[in-house]
Amino acid sequence: MANLRIENLTKKFDDHVVLSDINFNIGQGEFFSIVGPSGCGKTTLLRIIAGLEFPDSGKIIINGKDITSLPPQKRRIGIVFQNYALFPNMSVYDNIAYGLRIQKTDKTVLDSKINSVLEIVSLTHKIHNSVTSLSGGEQQRVSLARVIVTEPELILFDEPLSNLDYALRIETRNELKRLQRDVGITSVYVTHDQTEALALSDRVAVLNKGVVQQTGSPDDVYYCL
Ligand SMILES: Nc1ncnc2c1ncn2[C@@H]1O[C@H](COP(=O)(O)OP(=O)(O)OP(=O)(O)O)[C@@H](O)[C@H]1O
Ligand SMILES: [Mg+2]
Repeated sequence: MANLRIENLTKKFDDHVVLSDINFNIGQGEFFSIVGPSGCGKTTLLRIIAGLEFPDSGKIIINGKDITSLPPQKRRIGIVFQNYALFPNMSVYDNIAYGLRIQKTDKTVLDSKINSVLEIVSLTHKIHNSVTSLSGGEQQRVSLARVIVTEPELILFDEPLSNLDYALRIETRNELKRLQRDVGITSVYVTHDQTEALALSDRVAVLNKGVVQQTGSPDDVYYCL
């Protein structure tokens, strides 16, 4: 688990300021959401935290250590994407095993880690199924399992529920909240859906045109939106 601090972060693409002087302090095990309209800089901010993009100025600090210039593979950060990014021709097992195999994890350890993560996401019975045979909500749980199994310090979520229909979105949202509470990994969740952010989070930040307009508990932010 990690504490994440973002200090005076600024990012421009050409002359367009996409993120302007962003500051956050996200506590260990906290579920922190960033809510804002399309194009306000949410994905860019997550990409910078993950090391897939570099800021023009400012710092990313995890547990007191400045990681701003560290490459992505040296950061213990997992990302869950909107489109799941699963390998369609592989089973649930192989999708989850992928990252661990790259780390050359021993087969017995691999099996035991995959079994325990499948229990967490309630998909043990689907272990050998192809991911394309699963529902959208189940696929999203596989993509979360694939991240959890690598034991990251921090999980970033980029609109992970927006491909699901309304009923499944609510169901998966409740499931996600339960999982995050059980696993207790510090989470940064971006969405354009205010209701989703308010329902899931310990704290919410409102981002608009690259500027943080307010940060607070769901109750504080709710009355101001
Ligand atoms: N690689 C890039 N080069 C140039 N401009 C970019 C690049 N990536 C993002 N942008 C611009 O930065 C702004 C913020 O984009 P970003 O993807 O962070 O928004 P977002 O809040 O995630 O939007 P959405 O809700 O639609 O996913 C947009 O105006 C986008 O066009
Ligand atoms: Mg985005």
